[in-house]
Amino acid sequence: MSITLFNLQRDHIAHLQRAYETILANQGFDSLAIYSGHASVHFADDHTPTFQSYGHFMHWVGLADVQHSWLIIQPEKRPQLYLYAPADFWHLPTHLPEEPWVAEFDVHFCSDKITPSINGNAAIIGDTERLSASAIPTLKAACQPEQLVNALDELRLFKTPYEIACIREANRLALAGHEAAHAAFIGASGELDIQLAYLAASRQRESNVPYQNIIGLNEHAGVLHYQHYDLTAPKQRYSLLVDAGRRFRGYCADITRAYAGPDAPAAFGELVTAMHGLKDELVSSIAPGVSFIALHEQMHHHLAEILIAHDLFKGSAEQAVAEGVTRAFCPHGLGHSLGLQVHDVAGLRHPNGTPAPAPENHPALRLTRTLSTGMVVTIEPGLYFITMLLAPLRNSTLPLNWKLIDQLSPCGGIRIEDNVAVTESGFDNLTP
Ligand code: GLY
Ligand code: MN
Ligand code: MN
Repeated sequence: MSITLFNLQRDHIAHLQRAYETILANQGFDSLAIYSGHASVHFADDHTPTFQSYGHFMHWVGLADVQHSWLIIQPEKRPQLYLYAPADFWHLPTHLPEEPWVAEFDVHFCSDKITPSINGNAAIIGDTERLSASAIPTLKAACQPEQLVNALDELRLFKTPYEIACIREANRLALAGHEAAHAAFIGASGELDIQLAYLAASRQRESNVPYQNIIGLNEHAGVLHYQHYDLTAPKQRYSLLVDAGRRFRGYCADITRAYAGPDAPAAFGELVTAMHGLKDELVSSIAPGVSFIALHEQMHHHLAEILIAHDLFKGSAEQAVAEGVTRAFCPHGLGHSLGLQVHDVAGLRHPNGTPAPAPENHPALRLTRTLSTGMVVTIEPGLYFITMLLAPLRNSTLPLNWKLIDQLSPCGGIRIEDNVAVTESGFDNLTP
């Protein structure tokens, strides 16, 4: 661990200590128990699905795979970590990393799944539904108090320099995977082999990815959450879309790249270049005080201009936006908050915790906040040829170039996604 990261982590823990003290005092709590969560085995078997620790637990310890463990936070006391570490010869025993946070905590290794006792007016948060029915009465605590969780979510929206350094490192590692995926595509690999090349180069096993990598060749590039990996390569290679991440100390990278293949019409490669330009322009618009909804609308306006410039739409940009043409080509939001979760918390709330839902005409937008220093967001404009969304337009009189759309449809679509920190002076693109 570098000295810089070492010091940044110490500052991060000190920041959490202060912030939690204030939040707990404001809400009248003397102590807080945070449950890590745990995975359940598949019915009648001893395998579990992949697991991710509860975000507010990870906020302190940065470990994404700790289960059956507790963190007790009390003002002016050292955090108490009750770490489940069974005496078990089937598995490697739990051990803690050599990181500064460990020295700031009292760590209790527990050979059993325990529920620690807490004092005073206490709260308990985490995936408590998974606990046995007897555990919560033992705690005598307010379970998942909404205002407290909202305040802790709000705290997580603003990243410390340590957290930004971790997301930057996650990006650096993910980028090595993206380069390998691109090379595998050039070498005519199929989806599974591109995925394996990505995992190898980004140094991670599949169960550790922060979200299921999307590796879509040809029309699969237009399936927004495409969930398979074909075993064999297609004969025609029109396009590749890779939306793939990496964790570092719990923090996520969420990066997308799209490529034109040797069999794509020239117009598709030109659209890929245009979408890189749109991503760069949107990134450079990031600054404190900018409304993310306005930025999302800016994406639609510029997407309309791209449709016109590339001869896909023969009307005006205003018409393309107003008539829902751009929404049919890009049905998802511009981006979201990024941190310990890929879609991080508090994106759809006002600072005081009240709901700030997506606008009616942009229901998929997952971040409606005004940007401010310390937020980390994704910027991910897209342009897809999705039959189901284009069908209603085909039945209209809107001036779309159906011949070109049909030529480009086998290419699926394009998304370009970077991860960006909002700084005092503007932005810091964490995706190198
Ligand atoms: N990879 C999920 C997303 O981009 O939101
Ligand atoms: Mn993504
Ligand atoms: Mn994303």
